[in-house]
Amino acid sequence: MSTPIPVISATGLFTPADSISNEELVESFNAHVARFNAEHAAAIEAGTVLALSPSSVEFIEKASGIKARYVLSKAPILDPAIMAPRIPERPDTELSVLAEIAVKAARQALASAGRDPKDVDAVLCACSNLQRAYPAIAIEVQDALGVEGFGFDMNVACSSATFGIQTAADFIRAGHAKSVLVVNPEICSGHLNWQDRDSHFIFGDVATAILVESKDIAPPAHWDILGTRLKTQFSNNIRNNFGFLNRTAPEGIGQPDKLFRQEGRKVFKEVVPMVAEMIVAHMADLGLEPTGLRRLWLHQANANMNRLIAERVLGHEASPDESPTVLDTYANTSSAGSIIAFHLNSTDLAAGDTGLICSFGAGYSAGTVFLRKVA
Ligand code: COA
Repeated sequence: MSTPIPVISATGLFTPADSISNEELVESFNAHVARFNAEHAAAIEAGTVLALSPSSVEFIEKASGIKARYVLSKAPILDPAIMAPRIPERPDTELSVLAEIAVKAARQALASAGRDPKDVDAVLCACSNLQRAYPAIAIEVQDALGVEGFGFDMNVACSSATFGIQTAADFIRAGHAKSVLVVNPEICSGHLNWQDRDSHFIFGDVATAILVESKDIAPPAHWDILGTRLKTQFSNNIRNNFGFLNRTAPEGIGQPDKLFRQEGRKVFKEVVPMVAEMIVAHMADLGLEPTGLRRLWLHQANANMNRLIAERVLGHEASPDESPTVLDTYANTSSAGSIIAFHLNSTDLAAGDTGLICSFGAGYSAGTVFLRKVA
């Protein structure tokens, strides 16, 4: 029997109803700054407390390309007295919020492929931040959808989706599954430090889903997976120390290191060459020329990073058609970003067109998935 060929049958996207513009975000941040500086005026004057500096819409757009972000809990984030989402805990008998948004994206992918959940063999929840230790969110999603088989969670930060796609593709090649649902629910607002001027604008909330299947059962319209490749290289430059051991050192709970933090400049400098080299090498190994790449669906962290990576891969500055962005409306949505870019910018491609989904982020981690449209 020949080895089954893995394909992407469909994708799904759940977008929260509420969005925060840069103007709204900066107004709230600057109200917090003014309040802090007024409250600490004497200490600032005495030199024992550092005054906070305001944020600016112009800086955010120029440094990142981000103009707005969707969030699950808008009002508390914008309230200068809170500056964090407020998502009430749910009883164990209710679907958890992370599973809920994953299920919404998954249902869309399943409907688009015409796939009955009963014919899905596995669910992988691949995302940056899991809301609990166990049971796995993937198993809850599996149950909510009525999928038989198995599910598990995996976390490779912003690269989780491409790591999930390769894992699913390997299950299919090995004959362990014929249909694998990969979900990427990202409630990034929960791990963003909304009081940190350097990063308060970076993230948004969303969920995506990818149905990876064996070609022999896929719907007529699908994408052949030409090749996948993964890479990790340890770095502390993007880090979040939140975890269950924090309660064993209670003085640490609530400290900024239990939220997202990064050395943005270093990330920029180190990740751009790492990812560009990885794409170029993988492309060469697959016998593909840059001129044969119709579109890049890059991780959506920063417009300037994507501009540089695309230029190194294509040999010229990429047009929005060659390297579409969703940063302006969605901001950085961690693992979901490249999948949103693919979901919203792939139907116009023709049969035979080749493209690349590429993710990169904390770890460091990076993943490349070359695709060819079949119909
Ligand atoms: N508003 C106004 N000014 C701000 C600001 C804000 N919100 N945040 C920082 N600044 C200021 C800084 O104080 C600094 O001022 P100075 O030159 O007087 O010292 C200046 O803007 C430049 O700051 P810097 O942090 O060096 O900006 P940058 O151009 O490197 O952009 C990032 C910051 C984070 C957007 C950029 O480094 C980046 O995108 N890195 C990669 C991030 C990434 O992809 N991470 C992956 C996450 S998964």
